[in-house]
Amino acid sequence: MRYTTLGNSDTSISQIGLGTWQFGSKGWGFGTDFHKKDAIAIVNKALELGVNLIDTAEVYGSGESERIVGQALKEHKREDVVVVSKFLPTAIRPSAVNRALSRSLERLQTDYIDVYLIHWPNPLLPLGATLSHMERMVEEGLIRHIGISNFGLKRFQNAQSKMEKFRIDVDQLNYSMARPKVKEEFLPFAEKHEITVMAYSPLGQGFLTGKYSPNKTPSGTRRTNRLFRRKNLQRGTPLLNELGEIAHTHNTTMAQVALSWLIQNKQVVAIPGAKSIEQIETNVKATEINLTDLDIKRLNTQVKAFNPKLFL
Ligand SMILES: NC(=O)c1ccc[n+]([C@@H]2O[C@H](COP(=O)([O-])OP(=O)(O)OC[C@H]3O[C@@H](n4cnc5c(N)ncnc54)[C@H](OP(=O)(O)O)[C@@H]3O)[C@@H](O)[C@H]2O)c1
Repeated sequence: MRYTTLGNSDTSISQIGLGTWQFGSKGWGFGTDFHKKDAIAIVNKALELGVNLIDTAEVYGSGESERIVGQALKEHKREDVVVVSKFLPTAIRPSAVNRALSRSLERLQTDYIDVYLIHWPNPLLPLGATLSHMERMVEEGLIRHIGISNFGLKRFQNAQSKMEKFRIDVDQLNYSMARPKVKEEFLPFAEKHEITVMAYSPLGQGFLTGKYSPNKTPSGTRRTNRLFRRKNLQRGTPLLNELGEIAHTHNTTMAQVALSWLIQNKQVVAIPGAKSIEQIETNVKATEINLTDLDIKRLNTQVKAFNPKLFL
């Protein structure tokens, strides 16, 4: 495993983390394709392999993801794990953020969350008051770091300008070879200001694994992901072929190459979701691949050329 630091703090985090939206979520096949015991085994395997970063949210599986993570973590030393959770920005008042946090703490069976994120920007949210309140939560030891998610550069800078005592250490963003905009639009800023980019959907929800094709698309939650539209899968063929060839030369999988491409930059950590022990084992090995300059150049050419239609 390779580690980096969270923001400009001295908190060490693994460059491959574990995303847990899948846990408790029927739309991801929970309860049919895999079960609670699998989810707990996945967390245990991740930690055994050196992953110390686990991402969850109050909304995943309506709280079930946090409950499962909490149950799994009982078997481990709490201080060995960096737990990330998020609240939905429907909470207008600080008291509502308090309620969201105390429910998350209860489900996670812990008395602090390492990194607490505002899940999405909400123009109706009094951002300054919310962030000031989160700063108080840091002072009270209820959370250790403040982060946001789905905030583009301008929104991030606006949020940072409201901070009085602490920094925003993390922006969790949709970032992968299939959704690469973050690389140009946010990463240079993140590098300059030592902000961690936590790449979510780093496998494009499976798009980059080679498992899906115009004739085989995933069901459930991913039906709304336009990457899996037949035409976009067709448009992605050159990118997926290149990924496949490079994976072949390294004797590895497309998923590992896709993750390795992301974590070339030490400011980036990836939090792939996993539904089996095999998937977490594969994903962790992304830290062992040494992509050559030529590999990266070839991949970047295809990443740039891929132009999916993601909006109506
Ligand atoms: N902040 C936000 O707004 C936000 C939004 C989305 C996600 N997230 C977080 O980011 C995490 C990851 O994103 P994501 O789950 O959307 O997408 P992802 O990590 O790109 O894709 C996960 C899916 O890919 C497949 N997969 C994983 N590893 C694989 C492997 N080695 N080989 C083949 N297939 C593999 C699995 O599905 P199948 O086996 O069924 O194909 C898995 O459920 C989430 O769990 C969540 O914690 C945050």
